[in-house]
Amino acid sequence: MGPSDPPNRFYVTTPIYYVNDAPHIGHAYTTVTADAVARWHRLLGDETFFLTGTDEHGLKVQRAAEANGVTPREWADRTVERFRDAWKLLNVANDDFIRTTEPRHYAAVTELLKAVYDKGHIELGTYEGMYCVACEAYYTADELLDGNLCPIHQRPVEQVREDNYFFKLSRFEQPLLDWYAANPGFVQPEGKRNEALGFIRQGLQDFSISRTSISWGVPIPWDPRHVTYVWFDALANYITAVGYGDDDERFRAWWPAARHLIGKDILRFHCVYWPAMLLAAGLEPPRNIFVHGFLLVGGEKMSKTKLNQIAPADLVDDFGVDGFRYHFLRDTPFGPDGDFSYERMVERYNSDLANNLGNLLSRVATVVAKKCGGIGPAPRPDSPLASVAADVYAATAAGWDNVQPSLALEATWRLVRETNAYLEANEPWKMEAGPALDAVMGDALEALRIVAVLAVPAIPATCDELWHRIGLDGSPADQRLPKAATWGGYPGGTEVTKGTALFPRLPA
Ligand code: MSP
Repeated sequence: MGPSDPPNRFYVTTPIYYVNDAPHIGHAYTTVTADAVARWHRLLGDETFFLTGTDEHGLKVQRAAEANGVTPREWADRTVERFRDAWKLLNVANDDFIRTTEPRHYAAVTELLKAVYDKGHIELGTYEGMYCVACEAYYTADELLDGNLCPIHQRPVEQVREDNYFFKLSRFEQPLLDWYAANPGFVQPEGKRNEALGFIRQGLQDFSISRTSISWGVPIPWDPRHVTYVWFDALANYITAVGYGDDDERFRAWWPAARHLIGKDILRFHCVYWPAMLLAAGLEPPRNIFVHGFLLVGGEKMSKTKLNQIAPADLVDDFGVDGFRYHFLRDTPFGPDGDFSYERMVERYNSDLANNLGNLLSRVATVVAKKCGGIGPAPRPDSPLASVAADVYAATAAGWDNVQPSLALEATWRLVRETNAYLEANEPWKMEAGPALDAVMGDALEALRIVAVLAVPAIPATCDELWHRIGLDGSPADQRLPKAATWGGYPGGTEVTKGTALFPRLPA
């Protein structure tokens, strides 16, 4: 990138979470992934904007509030704090937190509705159909399970009839197919792209975007007896946060450079409705949509009624924040469903964090204390670990670029393992003090420095600690790639501290 090129901008989002519920590890999985990906892009020097937030309108939230005897706003104000607290606990560094009840969002939704209406893509009609409140979505009879049950929640749907404004989605079948054809990486992974394409090819029906039966929502600007359908409102959050309808320059800088991370249950809204809404308003669809599966507990989707929800704090007590982050990033490949297992989490923590990384640091620090006077020697330029580090960097970068944290971390940990193997092969604990020993220890310290940079998106607090223990100033998060991953950056001559175990072993 030359000095006159525009900066690389990287905009990443999570879904905005309904405030009818408390945050659980399924929500945390997406949020931590987005956080780690954003941190990776900051390391690359990209101008990065990471957005999360809450979806506060709709019947589901209104009913949760009623059930608790408070107004929807009071309910939202109370629940939003649980999300903010959870993300703070997990060391999530979002740049913005959007609530759909904020005035800036009302203004953006109003603008978007007007733009689509003025272009003739919204019309009045009558809606009659079956509605699942949990999904905030209509279903056709053939989509329902026996007994008129929602296919996702297996709960009865409600029969609804009202005058609604409709978004003319049917007109966007061909424009969407054209968009998909011109942008092969639009939806990832490939299987989810095919699912979205299959849905479009089946034929698209106009969908209702307003309600008169409820009042909790954004009023339709030209007919305020109606409030906006919660999904039309919610999807717009992604443009509200970058200044749509408010700050054109900012909006043009960030849109459409957006990457949406979503779960498979909201694929249709993001991969079909949302790009069509944007095209209808004369805007470009987002750059990419990355779709992940469900995190299952005992083979089932977490739900309040099944009492199988796990709160992030429950696991942080046992594994620490970085133990939590590492497990979900490393062990739940982005795409397929994954079954949560406490036993596997213990195994992963003990093998990768306590044994591989923790022991590496402790071994290095012990030998440096005993045989190098506590001062870390410089690495060799021609160390056998140098080419390993170069390969590891390339594979780690590919993993993060493709939103595959499990592959990125698997690659980074290859350097940890190879460095342990290098120490075992050379046995510096048996060597005499002198240049040969210094060379081995300098190489190991340099490998640790590179690991601290490459792993910082996943386990930021640990990498900070590691950085300081090997005697470096500042933070690995402030380094810039690719330079920081280039062999030879550890200067030598700094004080190495052993300290307590980075990750105390857990009983298996
Ligand atoms: N409010 C909408 C999203 C609007 S985005 C414009 C919504 N909220 S939600 O709170 O129900 O779900 C938010 C996200 O959490 C979805 O991506 C959903 O897939 C994800 N998950 C909910 N349970 C999950 C698991 N058990 N596992 C992984 N993700 C899960 O939908």
